[in-house]
Amino acid sequence: MSQDISGSSAAAGTKQADAFENLLHENRSFPPSAEFAANAVVTADDYAEADKDRPAFWAKQARSLLSWDKDFDQALDWSNPPFAKWFVGGEINAAYNALDRHVENGLGDRVAIYFEGEPGDSRSYTYAQLTVEVKKAANAFESLGVSKGDRVAVYLPMIPEAVITLLACARIGAVHSVVFGGFSAEALRSRIDDAEAKLVVTADGTYRRGKPSALKPAVDAALEASGHTVQHVVVVKRNGQDIAWNDDLDLWWEDTVGTAATEHTAVGHDSEHPLFILYTSGTTGKPKGILHTTGGYLTQTAYSHRAVFDLKPETDVFWCTADVGWVTGHSYVTYAPLINGATQVMYEGTPDSPHQGRWWEIVQKYGVTILYTAPTAIRTFMKWGRDIPDGYDLTSLRLLGSVGESINPEAWMWYRKVIGADKTPIVDTWWQTETGAQMITPLPGVTATKPGSAQVPLPGIAVDVVDEMGEPVPNGSGGYLVIREPWPAMLRGIWGDPERYKETYWSRFDGMYFAGDGAKRDEDGDIWLLGRVDDVMNISGHRLSTTEIESALVSHPAVAEAAVVGAADETTGQAVVAFVILRGNAVDTGDDIVQELRNHVGKEIGPIAKPRTILVVPELPKTRSGKIMRRLLKDVAEGREVGDASTLSDKTVMSQIAESLRK
Ligand code: PRX
Repeated sequence: MSQDISGSSAAAGTKQADAFENLLHENRSFPPSAEFAANAVVTADDYAEADKDRPAFWAKQARSLLSWDKDFDQALDWSNPPFAKWFVGGEINAAYNALDRHVENGLGDRVAIYFEGEPGDSRSYTYAQLTVEVKKAANAFESLGVSKGDRVAVYLPMIPEAVITLLACARIGAVHSVVFGGFSAEALRSRIDDAEAKLVVTADGTYRRGKPSALKPAVDAALEASGHTVQHVVVVKRNGQDIAWNDDLDLWWEDTVGTAATEHTAVGHDSEHPLFILYTSGTTGKPKGILHTTGGYLTQTAYSHRAVFDLKPETDVFWCTADVGWVTGHSYVTYAPLINGATQVMYEGTPDSPHQGRWWEIVQKYGVTILYTAPTAIRTFMKWGRDIPDGYDLTSLRLLGSVGESINPEAWMWYRKVIGADKTPIVDTWWQTETGAQMITPLPGVTATKPGSAQVPLPGIAVDVVDEMGEPVPNGSGGYLVIREPWPAMLRGIWGDPERYKETYWSRFDGMYFAGDGAKRDEDGDIWLLGRVDDVMNISGHRLSTTEIESALVSHPAVAEAAVVGAADETTGQAVVAFVILRGNAVDTGDDIVQELRNHVGKEIGPIAKPRTILVVPELPKTRSGKIMRRLLKDVAEGREVGDASTLSDKTVMSQIAESLRK
């Protein structure tokens, strides 16, 4: 199915564009200080060099940032678009690059990870220690029959074993597929089945807001029905809670990885060898398994991490707050910081546990210098008030990053003033699961930053904003965000479905990658992201599909039909609002049915997908061809006057809905 950008959702995009109109005259500009610019690791020269010869620029980064077992012969093979090959003929091992080589280079004693558990426990790993742990895990997985090309499903909390597991897979050439711990057993099962995973790595549970929270039962439920491909489940003991045990499948981490040999030799894998699959929501009900490969992905994540965060690995303490269940936790927790030999912080819990100053306490404790987080967190901290961060010493911070959705200018200013002492550069980075690494972002030592705008493509990246016909829009106008040239960390496809890859990303505009986002260029040519133009929502920086939640609602016996929209929400950016028609025999029991349906969505997809609001309505607004007009429902959900309803097949529907909501 191709993405619909001509119908109701595009109109919603336009409305959003109008709302952003006044922001496009942003006059505030924050050039880097002379001192920051003078010491920056990357200068404006990179733009010029990349413009001259893009593949050559990336080949230079690949050779300078990574150690190859076998050098590549060709930077880019684009002879069969949209299927790209980067660093053709090269052989490389991701885990060796993240670990062993730093130890060989005398950096074994540098701290790789400072781990902070939610209950207050902490541990750290030097590069030497982390290397040993990954070698043990690699040996253990191999002894369980996992070999090159096999898929490993990972369902873990934010603990060091997550990074160890991913790197151990990469080391032996197994393909990891992380499923976010907030997803349900059903979601886990469908991802295990789609990837035909041989091994699952999980934990008994984790902690959430001071209480133990289980994970293993979801794995048990996912594997209850027969027909799966899983041969073993390795279980990390994290919170010690009682769990059911399946003798046929389950093994404790400490009995397998814990007892494995500490020596393991990494061999190079082909540059295009699959590194991981990560499922993400698209416009249909079925999540897409986004496939990333090795050489190109490592090159762009490492380059961007160094350039965009101005990384000085000897002195910086980097903290990316993303969970490893999302792409940010892959690229900027698991891979890039370790490839670059950085020291990073990893935190298991929520920002308010046990108190609302927890993050700032962590920044103070470890002397974090670079913080990378999402606008939804920043808005939450704004709501809690500046007194909380003001109570901590945040002077170590020298650079702040944002990702996941547009950061509104007030939140940007607050972030800079309150967290960044009115002096740290802020990098607003646009990218996607599919792009693998950052694509549009200022460079902190070069770009004069502008609150609310991601501004300019990274050196070596060709993005554009085009109109319906695929023509570039002039400055001051809006359109669709596209990527014109292949980039090293680009997805290589959708697992098991090459046609869907072509159809979803490459069919809307000839020869260009269509990102699914609306965007504008301001008078200076800077890019502003305006949100999705398809049926994908962004809830707290997490991608969810309206169709997926609608399918979950309709699978409940009481529901006849459902329509879901993402409504603007002050804290989470968007919130899920569902309109449901109950079946004739189902009684509207008010709060009871609403609660039951929320829980049902939680069970089908995961707690993050639970609608904030469910409205029981008698009808849904549809066009004559039967397409639900979500734009009108969005007006209702956001409390606006309902827009143009002239194409409705039944003009009375909106008043019926208004009437039922009044009741
Ligand atoms: O709509 C854009 C939004 O998040 C989408 C990608 O989501 P996901 O694949 O989950 O990856 C999120 C983390 C990289 C994009 O299509 N998005 C991401 N970053 C930004 C953003 N929107 C505006 N500004 C950003 N900085």
